[in-house]
Amino acid sequence: MQGKKILVTGLTGQVGKPVAKILARQNEIWGLARFSDPSKKLELEQAGIRCVAADLVRGDFSAVPTDFDYVLNFAVYRGEAGSFDEDITANAEAAGLLMAHCRKARAFLHCSTTGVYNPQGQKRLKETDDLGDHHKVMLKTYSITKIATEAVVRTMARHLGLPAIIGRLNVPYGDNGGWPLAHLTMMKHGMAIPVHPNKPGLYTMIHEEDIARTIPALLGAATVPARIVNWGHQDTVSVEEWCAYLGELTGLVPKFNYTDQTIESAAADVSQLIALAGPMQVGWKEGLRRMVRTHHPDWLVTA
Ligand SMILES: NC(=O)c1ccc[n+]([C@@H]2O[C@H](COP(=O)([O-])OP(=O)(O)OC[C@H]3O[C@@H](n4cnc5c(N)ncnc54)[C@H](OP(=O)(O)O)[C@@H]3O)[C@@H](O)[C@H]2O)c1
Repeated sequence: MQGKKILVTGLTGQVGKPVAKILARQNEIWGLARFSDPSKKLELEQAGIRCVAADLVRGDFSAVPTDFDYVLNFAVYRGEAGSFDEDITANAEAAGLLMAHCRKARAFLHCSTTGVYNPQGQKRLKETDDLGDHHKVMLKTYSITKIATEAVVRTMARHLGLPAIIGRLNVPYGDNGGWPLAHLTMMKHGMAIPVHPNKPGLYTMIHEEDIARTIPALLGAATVPARIVNWGHQDTVSVEEWCAYLGELTGLVPKFNYTDQTIESAAADVSQLIALAGPMQVGWKEGLRRMVRTHHPDWLVTA
């Protein structure tokens, strides 16, 4: 993908920021966020990205151009109040209003989550599997709001004739951090890592470089009605395994707290993604090694 005009929402986020920076090497990237942390804006502008401030809660996109080739919706609002009303406004309604604003685009990619599935232990979840309130114990509104947002994206794709694709992302991680980095920090402070008793806690975590690399194929597969594709690595890895490997790298010993007050496994069947974009290229051990080297090179005891 070269020379395309692309809008990335959630520009300052864990996923949006590295993806936008990679795509900005060959495309004209515009990014939307509130820029609650001004230092991130400067870093993104230095990478050649045009930053536009807008608040999804207000749903006012008047400062945002309309002539994008593609829109990548990585924004997610997790309100502190835990209000379904507020979170559905800022995520589901905002996605619909954004699609209306950018209706001339060739395709709209909405980032969803494998947290929309009903937990089924270690089973590889397919796009047609049952939905449920997977993240309820940790994030009260998250799963239901993400399901609501998918429904709005599907409706607007048909209403506007705007090809759309919904990528149900598994655990994203990489040099910009993610859940495994949070676990490493907990290990450093001697804290036990919560894992659901229906163990192991199995995932198909995906490196930020693979997320960026697969975007052109996903956009090319956008359709009316909207298509849904799981977005994760072909290899499964458990929380216990990745923490043990982080321990090998740093000499820290992980402790686990098996509790039902944390989320259950969500390992995705990614055969549709691989058919579209080929296998993911960054293995989890390599990705974790790079992540630790970026954030805490002084913690490494092995190269
Ligand atoms: N991280 C994970 O483990 C994970 C797992 C599966 C799926 N996902 C999905 O991946 C996508 C990206 O997640 P992430 O982890 O990168 O999120 P994140 O780090 O929390 O970033 C959220 C982004 O949304 C922006 N945002 C939040 N509220 C906003 C508002 N009211 N108006 C405008 N922008 C707003 C934030 O920017 P400002 O604060 O500057 O406005 C930020 O850029 C989301 O769809 C998420 O559901 C994430």
